[in-house]
This record gives sequence, structure tokens and C-alpha cells, in this order.
Amino acid sequence: METTDLTLPPSKSDKQIAKMCCSGYLIAIIAIMAAFSANVVEAKHGKPYGWIKAHATFYGDISGQETMQGACGYGDLHKQGYGLETAALSTALFNDGLTCGACYEMKCYNTTQWCKPGIIQITATNFCPPNWSIPSDNGGWCNPPRKHFDLSMSSFLKIAEYKAGIVPVLYKRVPCVKNGGIKFEIKGNPYWTLVLVYNVAGVGNIVDVKIKGSGTQWYQMSRNWGQNWQTGVRLQGQSLSFIVTTQGGKTVQSDNVAPANWQFGQTFEGKQFN
Ligand SMILES: *[C@@H]1O[C@H](CO)[C@@H](O)[C@H](O)[C@H]1NC(C)=O
Ligand SMILES: *[C@@H]1O[C@H](CO)[C@@H](O)[C@H](O)[C@H]1NC(C)=O
Repeated sequence: METTDLTLPPSKSDKQIAKMCCSGYLIAIIAIMAAFSANVVEAKHGKPYGWIKAHATFYGDISGQETMQGACGYGDLHKQGYGLETAALSTALFNDGLTCGACYEMKCYNTTQWCKPGIIQITATNFCPPNWSIPSDNGGWCNPPRKHFDLSMSSFLKIAEYKAGIVPVLYKRVPCVKNGGIKFEIKGNPYWTLVLVYNVAGVGNIVDVKIKGSGTQWYQMSRNWGQNWQTGVRLQGQSLSFIVTTQGGKTVQSDNVAPANWQFGQTFEGKQFN
């Protein structure tokens, strides 16, 4: 069975932690640790190597329109290279948005009636919120502590029958394969720069971004939502450089990605993780 070289994430302090219920946050941490140490954990218990149990449903229709503009801050998933091979993650997996961009392999299992053979690859692009008015075992599939993937309909139909509605799945993190460099979409206004970071290869989900104007020092960006990172530093009229760090601590520096005459609304391409 294939393994990945993904390692444990650095500890994170995030202003948004307070918004989450503490147990939810702990569960998210445990889920991440489980995902990254699955080989060790599962080997110890003599279980299948690398694969982790969860469940999957689908949302939206076959067009996938409902999967666009999700909680990760991505927009047109076709233009951005994610396509419809995507999922909305439950609280236990979403990690308040820090998991956005992570890639998974997934297969249906343990129900011959509903499973189709084969393995899909998907990227985390959205959040599946809990709904406490529905029981966790009867519709509230995304309620903590459940590990749940709400797939695009087209991805779901590759591994399961439509009528199944929900199926048990096995999943594991895999490296993301991308064309070209990391993309930086610059939004906001002169007093507030918001940068959407996407098309990240390798580990796929980033946990830290720094920005530098040609006339400034490096500034730490804070995460606004999903994979949108912000700064209040005024940077118009300067070329822009970025340092991006993934979960696990790998770093890529892209110098002068945006020329000095960059405009809000433009997207620029930087370097890429191997
Ligand atoms: C398969 O599903 C049945 C219930 O449908 C359950 O009892 C059993 O534990 C499952 N097997 C595995 C390996 O998860
Ligand atoms: C939660 O589920 C109930 C019952 O199905 C539904 O009426 C309600 O709209 C749901 N809430 C959200 C926020 O989706």
C-alpha cells in the first residue's frame, strides 16, 4: 500500500478557535493526527494499512453548481483546477478551514449492494456544517464527531449507487498533483488586501502565508476564512512576494510574483511544492 510523507501539523493558535466548541476542536486535532499517523496507529492495531473509515453522501446535482463558492473561499472550481472532484468536510475533518486544499483518495466499502469498484481522488473545497436538529445517526451526518465527506454528486456516483444516499468509505490523505505554480488571487481594497491561495501541490493545505512588498519587510498574513489570507499593510505600487507554508512545515518562497502595477482582482502564479 502506498504511503505518503505527510507529517504532523505544527500547533496552531487561531482567533477562530474560540468560535468552535472545544471538543469539536479537539476532535479536529485528533482527526488530523489520525490522518497523518494512520500508518502507525493502524499498524499497531493490526488494521488495514493507511485507510481510515468515514462515510460519504453527496450534495447538489450532477452540474455541481452547488459545490462552487464554498467555505474554503475558492470560486469557480473548474477555472481553479479542482473541477468536480471535491468534497465538503464535516467539522471533525475541516479544522475550521485549515484543511482546505487537502487531497484524498477514497473508496466505498462494506456494502456490496451500493458500492461501485474503484478509487476517487478529491480535494477539500467546502464545509459540511452540523445540524443538531437532526440525529447524528439519521441525517445529521456532518455532526461532530463524525468524519464525513459530502461529495459532489459526480464524484459520489463514481464509487456508489445514487440510491444508496450514504455509504461507508475508506479514505487516506494523498499528495495533491497540480499543473503550474501556486496561484495568488489578490482581492480587497487599498487598506485591506485579501489573497486567495489555491492550486497548491503536495500536502495541499496551507497553514501560514507571509507577504512582502518590494519596499517593505515580510509581514505575517492572518487567515480570514477558508484559504483567504489578509493584511492591512498598504502594498499598492509594489511588486509582491509570498512565503507559503503547508501543514507539516514545508515552505515555498515566490519572489516578485505580482509586478508593481498589480490590480485588485488579478491572479498571479508563483512557485510550486514538488
Ligand atoms: C460492515 O457493516 C456492518 C453493518 O452493516 C457492520 O456490522 C460491520 O462491522 C461492518 N464491517 C466493517 C469491517 O466495518
Ligand atoms: C436542519 O435540519 C432541519 C430538519 O431537516 C431543517 O429544517 C433545517 O433547515 C436544517 N438547518 C440547516 C441550517 O440546514
